[in-house]
Amino acid sequence: MHACSIRNLTKEYVLKSETVRALRGVSFDVPEGDYVAIMGPSGSGKSTLLNLLGCLDQPSDGELLLGEDNVARMTDDQLAEIRSRRIGFVFQSYNLIQQLTVVENIQVPLYYQGKLGAKERQRCIDLALRVGLAERLTHRPMQLSGGQQQRVAIARSLVNDPYFILADEATGNLDSKTTAEILALFDELNNEGRTIIMVTHEDEVAARAKRVVRLRDGLLQSDEQNDPAERAEAAAKALEMAPAE
Ligand SMILES: Nc1ncnc2c1ncn2[C@@H]1O[C@H](COP(=O)(O)OP(=O)(O)OP(=O)(O)O)[C@@H](O)[C@H]1O
Ligand SMILES: [Mg+2]
Repeated sequence: MHACSIRNLTKEYVLKSETVRALRGVSFDVPEGDYVAIMGPSGSGKSTLLNLLGCLDQPSDGELLLGEDNVARMTDDQLAEIRSRRIGFVFQSYNLIQQLTVVENIQVPLYYQGKLGAKERQRCIDLALRVGLAERLTHRPMQLSGGQQQRVAIARSLVNDPYFILADEATGNLDSKTTAEILALFDELNNEGRTIIMVTHEDEVAARAKRVVRLRDGLLQSDEQNDPAERAEAAAKALEMAPAE
């Protein structure tokens, strides 16, 4: 099955004086288990595409299938439902709630669905352990490093068993050692079958994905698989430059 399927996707922003054609007919599929880096120059349409994939906005035309959901013609309410239940967001700025603990932050997407039982809480603790935060379960974001905060965000993104993790410059605020750790976590999650779609402008980050999709002027410029041997080399190099403690 495809985690998502995009056909002739178009997005126009209609302004008073002009219409900006941010996406001009983009098509590609993301099979389950894929790991895609979206690249392209400033203004090429990356954020626009990410917003559509994340159900934060509606396309002007074209098809957008997320799993079994055809979201291209959904109402705002339906989009919000898919967004909160089936998409895992990881942002550059973590977007954690300062008053809540690590486990509570991971629980936030469930809170909106009224799912707050012991079973759900245990699931959030398990996810915190999964991302390496066993010693930090009751800490608050302020008491965590940037890398630890991003781990909380990644655990939170997984709590609803999403179609895919959507990461927007997820390592943009992190130093190279912490970036290496977060990318190693993405590798592990992808090896476990998680689908990852990320926007990045860094070649070293894109080299870690299985596939690189490049946009230019709202069109798909290229769509290439990374060589597995080169991927492994990039991962090894990142670890070497930033050895684990
Ligand atoms: N809300 C909006 N209203 C009008 N035009 C917009 C809007 N959002 C984006 N655009 C325009 O659409 C085009 C694509 O923008 P987008 O933000 O998707 O680019 P990007 O690839 O994410 O760029 P960057 O690397 O700078 O973040 C640009 O020309 C931009 O000015
Ligand atoms: Mg952008």
